[in-house]
Amino acid sequence: MPHVSLDTEFLQPPLSKDFLSESDPELLSAMEAVRMKNGAGSDFLGWLDLPKKMTPQIPVINRAAMKIREESDIVLVLGIGGSYLGAKAALSALGPRLPELSTESPRVIFAGQNLSTSWLKDILSGIKDSRVSLIVISKSGTTTETSVSFRIFREFLVKKYGREEAASRIYAITDAARGALKTEADREGYTKFVIPDDVGGRFSVLTPVGLLPMAVAGIDISEVLAGADDYAARAFSHDFRENPAACYALARYKLYKEACCIEILSVFDPALSSFAGWWQQLFGESEGKDGKSLFPASATFTTDLHSLGQWIQDGPRNIFETFLTIENEEDEIYLPEEKGDLDGLNYLAGKPVSYINKMAFKGTRKAHRDGNVPCMTLSMDRLNPESLGELFYFMEAAVAFSGYMLEVNPFNQPGVESYKKEMFRLLGKPGY
Ligand code: PA5
Repeated sequence: MPHVSLDTEFLQPPLSKDFLSESDPELLSAMEAVRMKNGAGSDFLGWLDLPKKMTPQIPVINRAAMKIREESDIVLVLGIGGSYLGAKAALSALGPRLPELSTESPRVIFAGQNLSTSWLKDILSGIKDSRVSLIVISKSGTTTETSVSFRIFREFLVKKYGREEAASRIYAITDAARGALKTEADREGYTKFVIPDDVGGRFSVLTPVGLLPMAVAGIDISEVLAGADDYAARAFSHDFRENPAACYALARYKLYKEACCIEILSVFDPALSSFAGWWQQLFGESEGKDGKSLFPASATFTTDLHSLGQWIQDGPRNIFETFLTIENEEDEIYLPEEKGDLDGLNYLAGKPVSYINKMAFKGTRKAHRDGNVPCMTLSMDRLNPESLGELFYFMEAAVAFSGYMLEVNPFNQPGVESYKKEMFRLLGKPGY
């Protein structure tokens, strides 16, 4: 059953209904290139089939996750970019809202995505008396941020447990055949999971890259895959009601052609902030090429209405906004009535906080639309593993269609290499 829907009503103007045609030739040819696997970068379309292909691996992933859960108070997940943002999105959406207040065990800490000394020090001192396992994720197996952190945490584990037990607490997710991490994992006997050859980093959330950390956090990965599979079955439909990702891709492409430069993905629950981070990487790294593309920005409301709100309402008019909302909360909190009504809130007494948030969303959309910001709304009926799986696949399909409409290769990232080359040169890496 579909959980994600798209409302384009608030896009007019500049987009009239005719702009969003199910038979738009550019959209249809982009969709066909993805379906026929004959567009640029088509050897990286393995993500299309992941929901079905990963299903047989669910028991193996769950078994490893169970072992990690039993043996650990803390699980370090090391990776950067596509090798951590999907897992982080899922854990923030479906795991404990405030990890620092959570008593759930094990606690997952993401690292390997920066080169901050104080970050590493804080983690090292915070975990020294805990039972620790480590998941290291890198498709290339050579990414500096991840490798540096891994070397430091591996040394910590070896000192704490000895080489053999440390190895039994390390899980490597990497390429099937190549890379330094794969070589080390083979030599030291780490438990290994494979990132398929035809799946790029930012499309890997439905491989062990995303699924193992999710399972460790107690998320039902079979439901995540089921939600994604539900979308996969309709990802090439020309009917926008069945396939809103195609409509979303077309709308953002048309807005770009109408001189919009920035898309803001605005969420109304901090549980979705990390999802917005994953989305930002997916679209930024897939489309930002050859001098083209929208800049993918994100905001968490209502918090950011008190920071970015002014700019969105009244700044340069070259932006559009995609709201991502959750229709129904799992648990409600009702505002209590108070004698005397000193804070003047009794007019809301008895109302759930989710109702107040919903009105904040509707009010914001109306205000931004009145401020000439074209808006569309992606709604999830509920936030659960199935709807999140569907949303992951929705966005992957959308960026593939939208990248092909822009005439870029959405599956490579040549620009990411430039900083690495300069950094390696400065660091004196052999060969640079
Ligand atoms: O989407 C991508 O390909 C990148 O963001 C990579 O995931 C990121 O650079 C990390 O690469 P690796 O997994 O090789 O360490």
